[in-house]
Amino acid sequence: MSTLPSHLSQLAASIPPSPSDELLRAWGHDLAAEYLQVVTEAGITPGSRVLELATGTGRMTAVLTRLGYSVLGGDSTDEKTDQVWNRVQPEYARLVKLTLLDMRELPFKPGSVPAITCMNTLHELQSPHECLQEMLRVHDHTGVFILGDFNETGFDTMQRLHQHIYQDNHPCGRMNVLDAEPILKRHFKEVRTIHTPLNITFIASGKSEAAANPDSLSLQPLV
Ligand SMILES: C[S@@+](CC[C@H](N)C(=O)[O-])C[C@H]1O[C@@H](n2cnc3c(N)ncnc32)[C@H](O)[C@@H]1O
Repeated sequence: MSTLPSHLSQLAASIPPSPSDELLRAWGHDLAAEYLQVVTEAGITPGSRVLELATGTGRMTAVLTRLGYSVLGGDSTDEKTDQVWNRVQPEYARLVKLTLLDMRELPFKPGSVPAITCMNTLHELQSPHECLQEMLRVHDHTGVFILGDFNETGFDTMQRLHQHIYQDNHPCGRMNVLDAEPILKRHFKEVRTIHTPLNITFIASGKSEAAANPDSLSLQPLV
């Protein structure tokens, strides 16, 4: 279990656990605590608005609200909206707006979004490279881009959880988060890696020289 400073533990405790969270905790894991660690270390400008892709059941959305950020949560479905609001809780609801979108074609202008989070989503995407390019297109490089997904222990744990709760298999996906690192390094000046018990997360910031000169970037192979 990741150990958080007590003020962050209190924030994590204010997010109601889902049945999956409870099972993970029984196994010694806490995804909200990992997200809190990642977002705290990323140092997103206090009070700024964060585009959270893809919202899912709102685990990251809830974490961002506890740290005082406004969140625009985008997902291709609104089927899990009730779970999102349950995790967010009414006192933080004013910080959250949810929208339907497709990450393959984000409805934002190039370089218009200062902060993006995308956790535990790459492995769910049918065309992860296309979605990553879209996130890179809309990010403005003044803030941070947080991209993380399960490590080996994370995938093993989620497979165990899916077998236990849903009697199905957890997807492994078409792109490992490690494959994103060289792509991020071509676009951002700084790319830090955070290892938490179940995840590998990259925190990218600043425009690289190649990104400042898009012609040179387009000559680079993307995969
Ligand atoms: C595992 S959940 C994300 C979890 C969430 N980011 C978190 O960490 O709390 C993956 C989500 O990706 C969404 N998704 C899959 N393909 C998508 C696409 N092309 N555009 C937007 N959302 C997509 C699914 O609907 C699902 O809700």
